[in-house]
Amino acid sequence: MILVFIGPPGSGKGTQASLLTPEFKVISVGDLLRTIIEHNGEGAEVIKDFINSGKLVPIDIINQLMQNYLKSLDISQNVILDGYPRNIEQALFLEKNCINNFKVLFFDISNNVLLQRLKGRFICSNCKKVYNHHYYVPKVLGICDICSGNKFENRADDQIDVIQNRLNLYRLETAPLIDFYKKNNKVSFINSNQPIDKVFEDVKKVLRSY
Ligand code: AP5
Repeated sequence: MILVFIGPPGSGKGTQASLLTPEFKVISVGDLLRTIIEHNGEGAEVIKDFINSGKLVPIDIINQLMQNYLKSLDISQNVILDGYPRNIEQALFLEKNCINNFKVLFFDISNNVLLQRLKGRFICSNCKKVYNHHYYVPKVLGICDICSGNKFENRADDQIDVIQNRLNLYRLETAPLIDFYKKNNKVSFINSNQPIDKVFEDVKKVLRSY
């Protein structure tokens, strides 16, 4: 089963995807791009400029990045595409690469809730596990639950002015995908304003209905 996770920044796409591992392999384009930056890979400087100003990374870079992943996708595998496609152009590229048989989960959230979440997000510098000062802290304060690392960081694009750009872009470019996919009966709506475990229950309910 192939799932596409769509939702505004901070709606919990990554958190819910991580709860579905290892049953699902997660392909997070944001994580892939941040890894390229971290390892100073091809196009790292350009990618960093776009991400840190809250813009979508140019389509030629995204297509090149995704082509190999999409080519090797086995539709009998359980896969989550987190944050891809992010506009109609990317959705058409996905179709062109013969990935048609998938379901879309749209994570619906109100603006004030997502702002609070993004302001509180912090990440383990070593394994990139995502936490939140308000909602989800490590079991032992200052020690990562997963890798026992003790260094944490904020995301460069979680500054308030950059968040605003990301939200504007989401409304302009990504939100139209909901109608695009509704036509094909592909979309299920998840109320993402709830606590993590409640959202997860709703996600599992939707998956059981497929
Ligand atoms: P990406 O990393 O995908 O960012 P995003 O889509 O803006 O989403 P976020 O990661 O901010 O939020 P999320 O929904 O995953 O929430 P999370 O689970 O972390 O992309 C970053 C950038 O890369 C883009 O801006 C763009 O520049 C570029 N990019 C990526 N894909 C691209 C593409 N296809 N084309 C072009 N460019 C692309 O949760 C947020 C916080 O809330 C966490 O602290 C978490 O612990 C907490 N939380 C989560 N759920 C709950 C809950 N239910 N209750 C309380 N707290 C919660």
